[in-house]
This record gives sequence, structure tokens and C-alpha cells, in this order.
Amino acid sequence: MSDAPASPPMIQIEGLTKHYGRTHALRGITFEVPKGQVVGFLGPNGAGKSTTMKILTGFVEATGGIVKVAGISVADDPVGARTRIGYLPENNPLYEDMMVEEYLEYIARIRRIPADKVRGAIDTAVARCGLQKVRGKDIGELSKGFRQRVGLAQAIVHDPDLLILDEPTTGLDPNQVVEIRNLIRELGKEKTVILSTHVLPEVQHMCGRALIISEGKIVADGAPDQLSSDGGHIDLVVTGKRGAPDLAATRALLKALPDVAEVHERTTGEKDALAFSLTTKGSADPRRALFAALVDAELVLLSLDKKALGLEETFRKLTTAEAGKAEHADHPHSKAA
Ligand SMILES: Nc1ncnc2c1ncn2[C@@H]1O[C@H](COP(=O)(O)OP(=O)(O)O)[C@@H](O)[C@H]1O
Ligand SMILES: [Mg+2]
Repeated sequence: MSDAPASPPMIQIEGLTKHYGRTHALRGITFEVPKGQVVGFLGPNGAGKSTTMKILTGFVEATGGIVKVAGISVADDPVGARTRIGYLPENNPLYEDMMVEEYLEYIARIRRIPADKVRGAIDTAVARCGLQKVRGKDIGELSKGFRQRVGLAQAIVHDPDLLILDEPTTGLDPNQVVEIRNLIRELGKEKTVILSTHVLPEVQHMCGRALIISEGKIVADGAPDQLSSDGGHIDLVVTGKRGAPDLAATRALLKALPDVAEVHERTTGEKDALAFSLTTKGSADPRRALFAALVDAELVLLSLDKKALGLEETFRKLTTAEAGKAEHADHPHSKAA
């Protein structure tokens, strides 16, 4: 059988809703993932990431909407859809007292891999996930990083087209995070991947596309670079011609600039100097007006650094605006001067 000229997207979700009693976990989610993409599904805790993934894998039933995997409706043909999917659930539940080898054999049986293909399938998964040295060990003896490799091996043992990975690096130490990210990046060269995370760097390191979800709705969809280029801030340090400038007057001057949205004071080690961080309106660049205003006020610019709005800030803005929550106090630029 030859592929149809336009093969269906790997994931097609349309108007997906999910209610758990009175909780509206998903409020009408729509997106497609074409074959080959590595997508980061990004959102704070409780946003609906796991729910979406459980519906995609057929473990939870949707309340409404269309969910297809490689053109197969998950509701109509869950078994057919599942043959195309490898799934690493949140918290990676494993059988502690099984050997890695035994566990993968068990999964291969559940996945209905023909008996004569099991050996080869396990060897491939073990090699791809770097499990050669531990295949004879009990899972209970393994480090968290190796357990996660076992989780990935069980997800790929039947050679699915689509990998659904729910928070695959949560709970790992920094070295393990790097190893698992590298492994996922490798797997992403051959497979379509959707991975959920509540941490930003994850998406920047692994994904060509970020879908941001907040309170059961998609609030942004784009390349991580594209999502982070809108808006930004400027860090500057100023001093007076004779000693330290007046804080209130300098702040007022900065605040009055046309493209400046907010003025935050920062600490500086420079003597007789004031440091500020300005957030700009949209993609505006207030540097020329800023320089002229400082000259007029007889202030001296010691340094100026223009920074694009990081994905982290974009994420925070989108997800906190949606949630109608106050700014997080732990952010370096969240303290108003
Ligand atoms: N089995 C369940 N029963 C009731 N509410 C649930 C259940 N699973 C999830 N929820 C609720 O649905 C919302 C989305 O949860 P979830 O999909 O787990 O979010 P995330 O994975 O993004 O942290 C949350 O408000 C959560 O409390
Ligand atoms: Mg979750």
C-alpha cells in the first residue's frame, strides 16, 4: 500500500473538552501536529497537559471533540490508535521487582509483538536507550535517570510513530536531565514527539514548536524563538554629572518615555549610580528617546543592555494573565521600583 499524497497529521485535536464532574479540565482545545515535529506542551500545574495526553492515549475518555492519531479516531478505534503511540506516563510507573529485560518482554507481549520479533525489538530499544549494562538488573536497583530510560524503552519497543511523554524530566537531577533530553532529541529525529513540561528550558532545548496551555485552553502556539521575540526589556545604569542622581526624578523621566511600559529599579555595585530595568511596549525600541532624555537631564549612561523578552516571561505573562493571577514575587523583574 502506498501512502496517500497528503497523509493525515500525526495528531489532530479539534474542540476537545473534558469535564471531571464540575472541573472543566479542557475547554475546547484545537491543534494539529504534522509528522516529524517535536512539540513541547507547556503549561503550569493543573493546566490540562496530562488530561490531554491521557485522552490521546485512550486512557481517559473525552467529554467532547475529535481526537485522531495518524488519522485514526481514538474514540472509535482505541486499539488501532494505540499501536501508533508510545506513551511515557507522568511519574513513569514501573515494576520495581522485574529485571529490565523481563519488563520489556512483558511490554512487548502486551504490545502484541510477534514472538519471533520480540528479541530484536528489545535489543533495539535497549541499544537506543543506552540500557545495555543494566538489562539484567532489577528496575528497583536503578537510578532515576536509568528508570526514565527504561520508561522510554518501553515506549518505543513496538516502534511507534508518535511518542507522548508526560513530564519526562521531572524529578531528575541536572545531569540526568541532560542525558534524558539528549536521548529524547535523538528519538525525535525519527519520531513525532509531544512532551509536556512545566519548565521552560525544556522546550528551548528539545522542541521546534511550543504549545502553551493554561486553564484548559491553548494560549500560544509557535516556534520557541518566535514566542520569545515579542516585547523585551532594557537594563541600564545611570549616574549624575555630580554624584548620584535623584531616584524619584530619574524614575519619572524613564517612565515618561513613549515606549516604556514599566520601570523597575535594580541593585548595582557601581558607585553613585542607579540601575533600572525597563519593559517595553510590544516590539518598540525606546533607546534613542532614552538617550536624548538622559542627555537633556544631564545624566550619564554607564551601560545599556537590550534584551528580548525570554520565553519564560512570555510564558508567565500568558499563563498568569489567563489565570488572572498576580505577578510571581520570585521573578527578578517583578518587583516594581
Ligand atoms: N481524575 C481526575 N478527577 C478530577 N479532576 C481531575 C482528574 N485529573 C485531573 N483533574 C483536574 O483537571 C485539571 C487538569 O489536570 P491535569 O491534566 O493533570 O493538568 P497538568 O498535567 O497540566 O498538571 C486540574 O484541575 C486537575 O485537578
Ligand atoms: Mg500533569
